[in-house]
Amino acid sequence: MNKANENQIPRRAFLQRSALLAASTMILPLFGNDAFGASSTTQKKKKVPTVKLNNGILMPVLGFGTFQLKEAVCRQSVADAISAGYRLIDTATLYKNEEFVGAGIKDSGIKREELFITSKVWVTDSGYEKCKASFETSLKKLGTDYLDLYLIHRPRGDYKGSWKMMEELYKEGRIKAIGISNFTPEQYADFMLEAKIKPAVNQIESHVFFQQMDSYKDLKKNDVHFEAWTPFAQGRNGLFTNEVLAEIGKKYKKTNAQVSLRWHYQRGTIAIPRSSKIAHITENIDIFDFKLSKSDMSTIAALDLNKTQFPTWG
Ligand SMILES: NC(=O)c1ccc[n+]([C@@H]2O[C@H](COP(=O)([O-])OP(=O)(O)OC[C@H]3O[C@@H](n4cnc5c(N)ncnc54)[C@H](OP(=O)(O)O)[C@@H]3O)[C@@H](O)[C@H]2O)c1
Repeated sequence: MNKANENQIPRRAFLQRSALLAASTMILPLFGNDAFGASSTTQKKKKVPTVKLNNGILMPVLGFGTFQLKEAVCRQSVADAISAGYRLIDTATLYKNEEFVGAGIKDSGIKREELFITSKVWVTDSGYEKCKASFETSLKKLGTDYLDLYLIHRPRGDYKGSWKMMEELYKEGRIKAIGISNFTPEQYADFMLEAKIKPAVNQIESHVFFQQMDSYKDLKKNDVHFEAWTPFAQGRNGLFTNEVLAEIGKKYKKTNAQVSLRWHYQRGTIAIPRSSKIAHITENIDIFDFKLSKSDMSTIAALDLNKTQFPTWG
């Protein structure tokens, strides 16, 4: 956290920002006993429901993405997200921001056990030994001694060697759940020929324009939870101004972003939107007080183009 300390946010500024957030955050009803988040001792914040993964661990259905968030902006955005009620924070070695994510968490003052922290091992760190070293570095940068979820970022390199190490770290209790990312159903099937522990999660691209129905059905069948990256497709294909989403949103006084995230929630996919703006951070968590109708869900299903919005990322 040395670098992060250079950008230390003065305590007073942090408290002022937290007060601003609290003021912009309406108090919502709780979602039963499995709502993840604020303890009874902290002020009432938005509570995010959880799902039970295949190993019994509870994971929030909505989290905060940190791709492309750098240095002080990353730190501030993570602290803001936690203040707004997010408890799941998604990072990766590839994002080169784990120390700033860690600093934001520290600034928030939240107890470690109230958070659900995900990181990922990158392709160049794949393999049994390299994965261990990369995991230890991630922990150090994040300022924690365990991860809630650790993912193979892409099925490339010696990812099967990484998995062997992840299985050991999981058995030692240093990771609460282990999973994969960017695996197709075929890659998953091949992976499972050697894996001893079934992944809890597969984190893949998904948004209204790329609903990934093949993976959706396959993951459901295999009891692996579907987690959606770029739940907004980074705004590509006009997601934030799409007229079909806007028409649906009008009925509930919700934005296209909120309709998209609510659609993820109702189809049972965990979403991890990213934002560096307080207004968007609070908007994106404000999705648990309305319900899309069956007909809305079918209308959104018809937006599927069944095509990635990131063709060069493979
Ligand atoms: N496993 C993988 O291979 C993989 C790949 C990509 C991403 N991910 C994860 O998934 C997370 C989400 O994906 P992403 O960051 O690529 O993109 P995203 O969440 O789909 O979109 C982020 C963009 O949407 C804007 N935005 C957010 N809320 C908004 C709102 N309410 N209204 C209008 N604009 C809004 C943000 O701008 P502002 O900052 O201005 O709000 C930002 O430009 C990542 O951060 C990362 O954690 C994983």
